[in-house]
Amino acid sequence: MKLSFSPSLPLLTFAIALGFSSVAVANSGEATYKQVCASCHGSGVLKSPKLGNKAQWAPLIAEGQVTLTAHGYVGVRKMPAKGGKPDLSIEDFADSVVYLVNQSGGNWKSPDAKMLLAINKEVEARKAGLNKSK
Ligand code: HEC
Repeated sequence: MKLSFSPSLPLLTFAIALGFSSVAVANSGEATYKQVCASCHGSGVLKSPKLGNKAQWAPLIAEGQVTLTAHGYVGVRKMPAKGGKPDLSIEDFADSVVYLVNQSGGNWKSPDAKMLLAINKEVEARKAGLNKSK
């Protein structure tokens, strides 16, 4: 009996660690969302895609996490750059996008270092071509 428990212990620890880290991520994205984004995205102010509206978010989610996060960070039409908070880091912005998306039919994760690099690259590309629409 005892033996059958020990091999699963590392797995269990791993699962718990995973659980904690995803909770932490969800919380920080949610906190930023509430603080910075909810004033518009909570009720659809200025025709912003509303939290939980899957039909509005589906085509945005289809753009992919790198593109959507980068374009939101730079700003799109009435969507202010960095959600209107000039000192908002790209990590915090990305996590609030993850929160918005996951409340609206998507299943994204907090970007890892590699994805953040790609997001930063896309931010630079977007800035360089700011006059282009979409
Ligand atoms: C002042 C109101 C306002 C605030 C605050 C705001 N948004 Fe937006 N957001 C908009 C509007 C309006 C659009 C629609 C832009 C369009 O497509 O014309 C939008 C669009 C977006 C999009 C889609 C961008 C695209 O490529 O079409 C994302 C992602 C987004 N917002 C994320 C956020 C996040 C995350 C925050 C908080 C950190 C935030 N927004 C704060 C108004 C706002």
